[in-house]
Amino acid sequence: MALLEVKNLTKNFGGLTAVGDVTMELEKGELVGLIGPNGAGKTTLFNLLTGVYEPSEGTVTLDGQLLNGKAPYKIASMGLARTFQNIRLFKDMTVLDNVLVGMSNHHSSHAFSAFLRLPKYYLSEAELKEKALELLSIFNLQDDAETLAKNLPYGQQRRLEIVRALATEPKILFLDEPAAGMNPQETAELTQLIRQIKKQFNITIMLIEHDMSLVMEVTERIYVLEYGRLIAHGTPEEIKTNQRVIEAYLGGEA
Ligand SMILES: Nc1ncnc2c1ncn2[C@@H]1O[C@H](COP(=O)(O)OP(=O)(O)OP(=O)(O)O)[C@@H](O)[C@H]1O
Ligand SMILES: [Mg+2]
Repeated sequence: MALLEVKNLTKNFGGLTAVGDVTMELEKGELVGLIGPNGAGKTTLFNLLTGVYEPSEGTVTLDGQLLNGKAPYKIASMGLARTFQNIRLFKDMTVLDNVLVGMSNHHSSHAFSAFLRLPKYYLSEAELKEKALELLSIFNLQDDAETLAKNLPYGQQRRLEIVRALATEPKILFLDEPAAGMNPQETAELTQLIRQIKKQFNITIMLIEHDMSLVMEVTERIYVLEYGRLIAHGTPEEIKTNQRVIEAYLGGEA
């Protein structure tokens, strides 16, 4: 059984099928791409997987547990974390506090484990802070710990979003266009970082990205959506030369 199993997933908005009959799987430790022209349904698919939207049809299963009908916070506590296409940070809070918020959410969602006195959930304030700073240092943000999030340069705000998502200790991390708006140098750093996250945290990552060189460079498999439907699936090499995919992209630009 795969870590995440998506079966015949559909989301209709009135007459529009934003996601139609999508079936896919994510295995533990994989780095998988999700691409497709604008409006293909990529973000809607993330919204379905993380509980923001309820599917019109189909199922999502994590570790054999059905996620349908569960609230986003519940799904987050079960191990799915994400970043957003448009950055969502607590802009008037410090970099460190943005990360601590992610950690304490995780903390309180395990009230039952705390009750059982499992040591993990008895981290002191100081220990939590130390852990947050450790995460920040992996992302080269430790010197900005006391900076307000809104005062960080754009590329670093994007990185902070990823740190915050990782602070919840997810099994799967969904990244929605993490390189959007980044300059080439920031994108190159991000590419390196995504590789490092995968290696260091041994988590599963699904990446939506329009920057094809980034997607082709870091992912092991790629799913391609067009008008809500999966039109292709394969290795970066296979996707690069897939006629159907080439047409979808050229059609979108014409
Ligand atoms: N809440 C909503 N209500 C109605 N229509 C929606 C809603 N959310 C998305 N859509 C529509 O669903 C389709 C898929 O949108 P979605 O944002 O998932 O695409 P996307 O692949 O993420 O595109 P982009 O690359 O531009 O981010 C679009 O036609 C969009 O207008
Ligand atoms: Mg989108």
